[in-house]
Amino acid sequence: MDMFFDSTHLHITTWVIAVILFFVAYSKMSTGVHMGLRLFYVLVLATGLMLFGKHHTINDMLYGMKMLAGILTIGLMEMVLVRKKKGKDTSKVLIGMVLLLIITIYLGFKLPLGLNFLA
Ligand code: HEM
Repeated sequence: MDMFFDSTHLHITTWVIAVILFFVAYSKMSTGVHMGLRLFYVLVLATGLMLFGKHHTINDMLYGMKMLAGILTIGLMEMVLVRKKKGKDTSKVLIGMVLLLIITIYLGFKLPLGLNFLA
């Protein structure tokens, strides 16, 4: 089970796939890809929560911010796709999502597990 709690590989795999699926779903407006993406939201959350649960005491504030940023990124991904499906303007939510994605990735690499070339 250490691969869930100590290594970031699984978490990285899930969010990279989620980001790819998001852009495919966004450009193709495919319901199937969107459903697949929703499965990956759960996997990103599950792997993130397992890392958080074991390591947050290293730096409670930064880990808390990382979790919040990750959850908000997922929330905004879903909002962008739902707004697009309804024919509403997505530009502002999309910009917010990309900014939060960058903040989340920055915080992730800054935190001590796995890769931390930004520390
Ligand atoms: C789209 C959403 C997300 C992205 C892009 C993302 C990105 C990342 C990145 C780049 C890392 C660093 C990996 C490494 O250093 O090897 C990381 C680690 C981590 N993520 Fe996420 N993440 C996301 C969602 C979440 C969520 C929802 C949670 C919590 C519920 C979470 C909790 C963590 C934790 C605890 C770590 C370990 C931090 C450390 O390196 O010490 N992530 N994530």
